[in-house]
This record gives sequence, structure tokens and C-alpha cells, in this order.
Amino acid sequence: MKEQLEKIFNAANEDIKNAATTENIEEIKLKYLSRKGELNSIKKNLKDLSDDDKRIVGSFANEVAQKLEKSLSEKYNEIYKKELNEKLQKEKIDVTLTGKYIPKGHVHPLTETTNEIVEIFQKLGFSLVEPQNSPEVETEYYNFDMLNVPKDHPARDMQDTFYCKLASNVVLRSQTSGAQIHVMEEQKPPIRVIAPGRVYRNENVNSRKNNFFHQIEGLYVDKGITMGDLKGVLNEFTRLYFGESRPTRFRSSFFPFTEPSVEIDVQCIMCQGKGCKTCSGTGWLEILGAGMVDVNVLKGVGIDPEVYTGFAFGMGVERLAMLKYAIDDIRLFFNNDIRFLKQF
Ligand code: DAH
Repeated sequence: MKEQLEKIFNAANEDIKNAATTENIEEIKLKYLSRKGELNSIKKNLKDLSDDDKRIVGSFANEVAQKLEKSLSEKYNEIYKKELNEKLQKEKIDVTLTGKYIPKGHVHPLTETTNEIVEIFQKLGFSLVEPQNSPEVETEYYNFDMLNVPKDHPARDMQDTFYCKLASNVVLRSQTSGAQIHVMEEQKPPIRVIAPGRVYRNENVNSRKNNFFHQIEGLYVDKGITMGDLKGVLNEFTRLYFGESRPTRFRSSFFPFTEPSVEIDVQCIMCQGKGCKTCSGTGWLEILGAGMVDVNVLKGVGIDPEVYTGFAFGMGVERLAMLKYAIDDIRLFFNNDIRFLKQF
């Protein structure tokens, strides 16, 4: 038995010598020193020996176990230090190196413009429409019918509006004005909302037209609202958005859902009003349409036009950004050229 123990001791020492990783050490521990290990299996046979032999072999077995444990833990520490050093070497950080430049993004110029305009109107007491009241996919009912647009109006033509193939009364909205109807159906006056969003038109794309763009719709309905309120609010808006130094003018116009209707022009940024190619020689550029909400529209949503009046307006976000920053091609907003986007 003693011989057996010596053999185990030698074999274990050989294994310890050859161990290269802390995992190896664990394996050796299992093999020789665990409950099911080789030393224990010998100890189990002690009971067959005489009392004297039991003592001698037993204490020798313990001695072997102690020696093995000691050399195992020494070897373990040695390997552990080595492994740790290697790891630290590998993960060494050179704090003197220059850092990696991670460019910081920002919101798209159209989002920025929209936010700016919405903020102005919020200061003037308007609140943002609930998203469900301003869907991009609309029925003709909201996009045209309820806005008093005649059945034969050219805007309804398939050349101008995108229709759904499978449901002929479903359109990609061509204007945000439908939001007015959704809000008035849901809410009683006083109503004072602003509805920004994307609209779609079947256009030949060029530097001034894209087949989708963005609008901001506004609606104010209450008792006693007049054209004076319209002028006051929209003048204040143009002053806050363009600054004092950009003159504006009101021009009479026509929209099916407003009566009377106006358009607001701002002095051309390219020529300062002298007349150039951009403004077709007029010195003015149109920025928005507006008007007093048509009696038929109010009646359609069950608001009594004898009690309530209101005004509405709609403006193109791209156009407003182009006029403020002198951008000459609408497509720049959509082709995601970082050299353009970085300027904002
Ligand atoms: N929806 C019109 C358009 O897309 C813009 C507009 C004009 C909106 C007059 C209005 C309005 O609310 O009163 O051209």
C-alpha cells in the first residue's frame, strides 16, 4: 500500500510539474485529492489492515495528501500570477493615445424647422394635435369631401393625388388640412391646434417639388374669431420666425375650405425684393395659405357657424426652411448628403 501511495505521490507531482493553467490545477485536485480521488480510494482499503499498519499507512497517506496540497497551492499561485500578468499586458491601455472621434449627430433640418415653428405656435397658445387625428393615410372624405373640395376639383385627379389601388377612396393625404376635420369631430370649441406632418403629391420631382413634403396646419375656432385674429397671429408668427427685417404681405386667394382666403408672402431672400429668378421677378415668395374656416366646413362637423367662427392656415416646412436658409433645391433635404446636413 505504501508503494501504491508513493506511486500516486510521484504521478501527482509529475502532473503538478506539467500543469500550465489554473484549470489544470483544478483537474489534478479532482484526480488525486477529491472524495472520489485516488488517495481516498486507498484510504478506503485501510480497514483491511492491522491496527499498526493502519496507523503507519494512514499517517503516510495524510502526509502525502498534505504535501500534494501544498505543492498544488504553490503551483496555483505561480500560474495565477503568470496568467494575470499576461492578461494585464494584453489589456494595457495607453492613456497617452489620442481618443477616437465619435461624431455627434443632430436632428434633421426639417425636424428642427418643424420644432421651431411648433414652438412659436405653442407660445401663441396653440397645442399639438394628437397623432391619431393627423394620419398620413386618409380617406377622400377627410382629405377632400369634408374640406368642401368639389368632386371635380383638379387636386383630386390621380395625376395629383396618390390613391390606393385596392380601396379607391383611400389616399396618401395631399394636405394636412384633414387634421382640422378630425379635431373638430372630436372636440368642441374653443379649438386651437397645430398639426405638423408629411403629405404626398404625384409630382414630377425637380428642384422645387418633391413627391412628399411636410406641412404644418393650424386651426383656431371659437366665438368671435375674426380676420383680425388671423392677421395678428400670422403676423406674429412671421415676425418670430423670419425676424423683424423680413417684410411680409397678405394677398387675397382661394381655398375651398376657407372664405375669405389669403396667402402670405415674404420678401425674397435671394434679391431682397428687387426681383430675381427665384421669385419670378416679383420680389415676393409665398409662404402659407390661410383663411376664415368656410361655413360649409363648420356645418359638416356639426359646429354652428352662427355661434362660432375660426381661421385656419397651412404652410410648407421645406419652403419655410428654404426661404430662411436660402436653400435652392428641395431634394437636398431628402438625399441625406452629410455635407448638406452638417450645415445645420
Ligand atoms: N391645404 C393647403 C395646401 O396644401 C394649405 C392651406 C391653405 C391650409 C389654407 C389651410 C388654409 O388650412 O386655410 O395648399
